[in-house]
Amino acid sequence: MVKKQRTFFCKSSDGSITYTTDEKFLYAEKDGVVMRLDLFDKHYYKLRPVNGVPILEIDGLRMQLIRDFKTPLDYAREVVRHLKIPEKGEFTILDSCMGLGYTAIEAAKRPATKLVVTCEISHAVVTLAQWNPFSDLLFAKDGNIVPMQGSVSELIKDFQSEMFHFIIHDPPRDSHAPELYSSEFYSQLYRVCKKGARIFHYVGSVGKVKGRKIESEVEKRLRVVGFRNIKYIEKLQGLIFEK
Ligand SMILES: C[S@@+](CC[C@H](N)C(=O)[O-])C[C@H]1O[C@@H](n2cnc3c(N)ncnc32)[C@H](O)[C@@H]1O
Repeated sequence: MVKKQRTFFCKSSDGSITYTTDEKFLYAEKDGVVMRLDLFDKHYYKLRPVNGVPILEIDGLRMQLIRDFKTPLDYAREVVRHLKIPEKGEFTILDSCMGLGYTAIEAAKRPATKLVVTCEISHAVVTLAQWNPFSDLLFAKDGNIVPMQGSVSELIKDFQSEMFHFIIHDPPRDSHAPELYSSEFYSQLYRVCKKGARIFHYVGSVGKVKGRKIESEVEKRLRVVGFRNIKYIEKLQGLIFEK
């Protein structure tokens, strides 16, 4: 029994789903059936509204940075702004970790973006993204986003060399996905991007608490594989760099 709900932000684009929230959870009502948008699949996955926009939590950890941002969409906008994608041209972009697709969607909206390829390892996350009306553009039939299911560390091995002009690498924290912070993976990132490509890499700031500076460790590894002009952006808790 769902109590104390209030209508959330919107209906789905065709009006057939109504979303409500009790602030902790998000609920979708379709054909008179109410579903709570959380699920277990080895881990616990949940959508939770923050200022009218859902974020994804995995085992209680937020997958979108909201500190210093009103909504997770503002974070995605700021990440894409730092990529400096020109207004004209035809650009192909890799968004390594799809999540709810906010960074992929923001990159896809740029006027000169031809294609965004985005990868997601978890079926549960894809399912929640399919229910999330803010992720609709990920699955638009005539859109310019190609979502791929699987681990980016495997999928990337089949991508052509130098096929991407820009990369957004927004993985979970290094303790939860160490392979996405490894020299081996960075070599693949280097291989698949064009000379002059700009890359954003979320690294977080939790390491500082334990006396580790995660951004310095990552920076060293990135330099060794050949990336340059590496700069830490505090507000985004990430590095911007180039090939
Ligand atoms: C920080 S979130 C990405 C948020 C996303 N940029 C957005 O705007 O919603 C990280 C996502 O990476 C996924 N992930 C973890 N390991 C992965 C891997 N090896 N390959 C692809 N996705 C992975 C997680 O399931 C999670 O959905």
